[in-house]
Amino acid sequence: MSDQADFFSQWNSPEHRISELIQLIDHHNRLYYSEAEPEISDTEYDLLFRELENLETQHPHLLNPNSPTQRVGSKPLEGFSQIQHAMPMLSIDDVFELKDSPIAEAELISFYQKLQKNLGREHICVSLEPKIDGVAVSLFYENGSLRYAATRGDGVSGDDVTQNVRTIQSIPLTLASSLPILEVRGEIFMPNAAFLKMNEEREEQGLSNFANPRNATAGTIKQLDAKIVAQRPLAFLAHGLGAYEGPALSRESDFHELLDSLSIPRNQPIRIAKNLEEVLQAVRFFHKHRESCDHATDGVVIKVMDYAERQKLGFTSRAPRWAAAYKFLPEQKETTLRGITIQVGRTGVLTPVADLDPILISGTTVSRATLHNQDEITKKGIHIGAKVLIEKAGEIIPAIVKVTSPLAGAKTFSLFDHIEGKCPSCSAPISQELGFAAWRCTNFECPAQATTSITHFASRKALNLESLGGSVAEALVNSEIVKSPLDLFSLKEKTLANLNLGTLEAPRRFGEKHAKKILLSLEEARRKPLKKWLYAMGIRQLGESAAKELSRLHRCFFDLPQSEILREIRQDPRADAKKKNPILEPFQITGDVGIAVAESLLSFFESEAGQKTLEHFKALDLNPQSDNFAPIAQDSLLPFSGKTFVITGTLSRERDFFKTLIESQGGKVSGSVSQKTHYVLCGEAAGSKAEKAEQLGVIILDEESFFALLPETERSE
Ligand code: IVH
Repeated sequence: MSDQADFFSQWNSPEHRISELIQLIDHHNRLYYSEAEPEISDTEYDLLFRELENLETQHPHLLNPNSPTQRVGSKPLEGFSQIQHAMPMLSIDDVFELKDSPIAEAELISFYQKLQKNLGREHICVSLEPKIDGVAVSLFYENGSLRYAATRGDGVSGDDVTQNVRTIQSIPLTLASSLPILEVRGEIFMPNAAFLKMNEEREEQGLSNFANPRNATAGTIKQLDAKIVAQRPLAFLAHGLGAYEGPALSRESDFHELLDSLSIPRNQPIRIAKNLEEVLQAVRFFHKHRESCDHATDGVVIKVMDYAERQKLGFTSRAPRWAAAYKFLPEQKETTLRGITIQVGRTGVLTPVADLDPILISGTTVSRATLHNQDEITKKGIHIGAKVLIEKAGEIIPAIVKVTSPLAGAKTFSLFDHIEGKCPSCSAPISQELGFAAWRCTNFECPAQATTSITHFASRKALNLESLGGSVAEALVNSEIVKSPLDLFSLKEKTLANLNLGTLEAPRRFGEKHAKKILLSLEEARRKPLKKWLYAMGIRQLGESAAKELSRLHRCFFDLPQSEILREIRQDPRADAKKKNPILEPFQITGDVGIAVAESLLSFFESEAGQKTLEHFKALDLNPQSDNFAPIAQDSLLPFSGKTFVITGTLSRERDFFKTLIESQGGKVSGSVSQKTHYVLCGEAAGSKAEKAEQLGVIILDEESFFALLPETERSE
């Protein structure tokens, strides 16, 4: 090869393109996360990202752990390995704010006076910044690339949490400049708004709440599975320098400039004070504004600005002499618990809420506080009439800390007894899933859940009711036109067309065209197979796979309430080993249908609410039929049984979608093309795998011909 050809082939090499793409994506990440000024659209960004993903799949040996595609680690860890800190990660001495006393200010004064004495000068320049209530981490960059992230641990060595830290989008994995060594110390935390939203979502899913953003952060950073971490809204702010090799830094402001130039997010606001009076003013400023910060702060950190002065001051055995933390006390007040209301959430979760004699805490009046769930109530011995201590946990959610004076002879509140085991909204039975703290209403037609259940009922994977999304469902429920999904079948075109999707002041009519569409898809829904209907009913524990398995075992909807198979499973103490139950064995029931599903379904049908639902089905002349009825499993008859697929290139949907589809039809999906491959499903920009398939004479399918291989019922997915 000539020198020139060699040069170009290197230039066009995957290696070169991969490093170019990493730089490009990192650059756009910086613009997006740090400057909030993106230069390219989300679609353009996705294209770059997918190109990189494809190249990395094709050339696994070129995979760089700091590639932006690697933010979510692949495998959960078995445990954290330990990392020895390049420099000890010290703590700081706390100076406490003391309630209604000027002593803390006196302590602050004494801290500043010590600085003056030790440095032999009157005016010492210090910086002040919020103390973030999070989890301390150290980010170690070598030659501009993140080498590891570690928790403080015992200060000498900590947990290697690199996998988890990589999921935090605002932390650059590669830096715009390749400094030999930069160790940044900072705090991982959850912004208040994101924390509240996450808790709300958890509550709806029946998961326990985190008490405050700090607990949530600490719990998340200790997760071994980075996929879970990636779903939690963690953020990072830098506040200190550890090991460093690079252009000299002589004061804290140089360090801040360095962080800004590298787009590493840093803690703000910073106030500079040149004398004691300014120090006190700054601390009062932070105290006054502590509520306006979007994350939990529990004090102020004061640091000497000048690095030479820091060196002179040195360290005690555990903390630097050049820094101190002034801690605020969380405000707590006592009040009386007047009553407990049970709220029914949009997904049926029942949340107990305390009604309190109103009190003012940290600037706001508090008259209600969530009690989370029964476990929380039991743990704290909460009962109506008790005097309780209230605090804004992590500064944002009012919470009951403890009972301060119990009411003589009172019993701990029981959610179940209080509402006599019935949903306060629809009187249907409530149930508590194994391993979950939350109680839920089990009724598919519960009015409190109407918007959620109608939206689910209409979703694509359920009955796919065109034009019926969340906002239409909400308008239908709010205007009291429908109270449950089945009410949709009684809708008249005129009522639907006149539906107001706007406000009273600015009405927006739904219109005839959309109304017709909905009515048409409702007509089609009547004929949709049983599995879709079962899934559409949104019964707890009954997901898509269980619905499919149930429809394999039953001819039609009305067979389910009488089902002997379900009764047998419900009683089977070895629900996970059905093969041992002689009655169930011939059915070869998959793990998708176990005790939980059988119990959930049967207890619903047996309840008054369930009976009403059955009546409703009858009145509407609905009895969805199974389209895969085969009580004796016949896996080998599935269209893709024994066939191996390889998926490559960019398809119209996620690869997982195709993988699940293939597997549901009895096929297997493999990562590489070989003699044993039967089909290669090729999307756009397919690379080496398509070439190999061609060489080996393996059948290549585009999406259209792939779908053509499927039975008709699967194509609409
Ligand atoms: S500077 C040598 N600044 O609080 C330690 N620390 O209680 C210098 N913290 O160890 C630390 N916000 O993990 C500093 N703005 C801030 C901080 C902060 C939170 C943490 C940090 C520290 C701990 C001490």
